[in-house]
Amino acid sequence: MDVPAASLQENVEPTSIKQVGNTPLVHLTHFRFGDEKDVLAKLEWFNPAGSLKARPASSMILAGENRGVLKKGMTIMEPTSGNTGIAIAKFARELGYKVELAVPERISSETKETLLSGGAKLLVTEDDLCPRVGPGTDQSIALAGALILNHPDQYYMPNQYENEANFLSHYRGTGPEIWEQTHGKVKTFITGIGTGGTITGVGTYLKENNSSIRVIAVQPQKNHHIQGLRNLDESEMPEILKRRYNVIDETITVSDDESFHMVNELANNENLFPGPSSGAVMAGLQKVIGSLDHGPIVVIFGDDASKYKSVYREFGVFTAEAYEKLRVNSRFNASRKTNS
Ligand SMILES: Cc1ncc(COP(=O)(O)O)c(C=O)c1O
Repeated sequence: MDVPAASLQENVEPTSIKQVGNTPLVHLTHFRFGDEKDVLAKLEWFNPAGSLKARPASSMILAGENRGVLKKGMTIMEPTSGNTGIAIAKFARELGYKVELAVPERISSETKETLLSGGAKLLVTEDDLCPRVGPGTDQSIALAGALILNHPDQYYMPNQYENEANFLSHYRGTGPEIWEQTHGKVKTFITGIGTGGTITGVGTYLKENNSSIRVIAVQPQKNHHIQGLRNLDESEMPEILKRRYNVIDETITVSDDESFHMVNELANNENLFPGPSSGAVMAGLQKVIGSLDHGPIVVIFGDDASKYKSVYREFGVFTAEAYEKLRVNSRFNASRKTNS
């Protein structure tokens, strides 16, 4: 059932807003839970800018242009824990916009470097790792909102936490891709929650096609180190998630240790080079596997390990040699071998 995307076959890194989506869905070959429970991983690092966030980033920029609220000469302002900002910076450069990003200081040093080298101006806040939703003054979402308030002609703030284009990018893109790539056979869908765009977009599309598909959300522990994901006891629920929360059948909480352990297992057993959220999703899967119906399980691997060398070193996930070996030799590494 593996469905290679064009980019996988050609081994050319996609860079343009026109190349978002159509990512490969691949079988995990050693991570097996019995013959009837194949695990298929959607490798979102094959998107331009290396993550699933290329989807909402492109969709929100194009929606802003279409609505006439984003015009040439303006600056895009966004609160982000990294991937959305990296994608926005890439597309903004392509389309001729300036970019300012409100980011939590705890994001990895590599993420900050990538954002700066992409031409973004950074406003660093004391926020949680995933920007906190709710009242406050020193947080990324509040700061970005306050800064643009009196300058609607200069700034466009997509706001992935509320923007329906975030949901739509997965409802119109990721969801239909998974349905087609599994020939409509997918039985379980599991992904992490950040804004909730992925789980609500994919979950809604899949359930419209087969209401018995189980949709499982994974959240990290409180005070976690899984970039891009959110603990819902620690932070209010983003608007985009509230709107369609009922599409989620179950939410599993995983610890940092469980997530990083799975990153290591994916490297050792599958020769993959995944980001922390992929480990979190696999840790969540392991906790529910016994209760799942037979049939293909689709997991989202949101980004690869290239921005997490320092995090993996801090948490003892890989030795420097093992990290380097994987960076060069891992399977499906989207030709980002030079992007360490
Ligand atoms: C790296 C990464 N960031 C963020 C998310 C969360 O996505 P969303 O904001 O759509 O909930 C995921 C989900 O798997 C992810 O892997």
